[in-house]
Amino acid sequence: MAFSRGETDVLPLASGRAPGKIILCGEHAVVYGRPAIAVPVFQLQAEAMVYPDPEGVCRVEAPDIGRGVVVATAADDDPLACPVRLVCTALGRPLPPWRVLVRSAIPVASGLGSGAAVATAMARALLAAFGVSWSAAELAALVYEVEKLHHGTPSGIDNTVIAYGQPVWFVRGAAPEPFTVGTTFDLLIGDTGIASPTRLTVADVRRGREADPARFEALFDRIAAIVHEARQALAAGDRPRLGALMNANHEVLLALGVSSPELERLCAAARAAGAWGAKLSGGGRGGNMIALVDDQHRLQVTEALLAAGARRVMATTLA
Ligand code: MEV
Repeated sequence: MAFSRGETDVLPLASGRAPGKIILCGEHAVVYGRPAIAVPVFQLQAEAMVYPDPEGVCRVEAPDIGRGVVVATAADDDPLACPVRLVCTALGRPLPPWRVLVRSAIPVASGLGSGAAVATAMARALLAAFGVSWSAAELAALVYEVEKLHHGTPSGIDNTVIAYGQPVWFVRGAAPEPFTVGTTFDLLIGDTGIASPTRLTVADVRRGREADPARFEALFDRIAAIVHEARQALAAGDRPRLGALMNANHEVLLALGVSSPELERLCAAARAAGAWGAKLSGGGRGGNMIALVDDQHRLQVTEALLAAGARRVMATTLA
């Protein structure tokens, strides 16, 4: 993704990128200390470019969402201003006279990590413009602060998988672990086209757990067992097993109350068209679902998803 000469004739001082993500299994339970597996999606990227600002002001412009802010006067919790403030505070620098232009191909509120990817791309671009290099762990920690604005009580999985840019086994509060994959796993990502902020589904699950802790803790434990088995299926290169585990994970998410008629329709269509398994991915109630497919069924499943109402279907491979 590049900015056309028409948008600016000035060369950028620096740029940064970050991928989107999917949760393979374990969402929601991961907020309560259970493990989850997440995968970056490099086909979907956010990009930030840092330019000198002609008026000497520190500003962020995000034309895709029709927003622009002057960092010094933006609200305390503004998600565009926050990454700039956090980077400057961490480096002990005043706000620089820079214009940060943000572009993202990741649909917002769709479970694909758009907020974390934008913040990561911005932080990378700013750090590069300041001539500073950070580890993935430092970057993930900074973006986690921004994630709290989007999600309320995020587990930290989105900022981690996006900052590390590799598949991760994630447990809240622990360093992410890379894991072994015994073969390639081809996934289709089906978009319901329905925006569903993760903050809302996470809050609903929290309310459910407060009302009936025993039931919800048991559902989280069931998800944890599925995620452990999924790790073994990935290591063994066992696609049928992983597909069955995705179906099982989806059933528990349905019981948690975070599915939707649209997600049910897409998952059912994918399975009927020959996917090994399918589940919602991310916060749920909209956003995206994923289906595990083999070569013979990829086209059939794609067509079935589109016929069942998917706005678009993307492909990614876990290798
Ligand atoms: C969001 O990608 C995953 C959730 O588990 C929320 C979180 O972990 O913060 C739904």
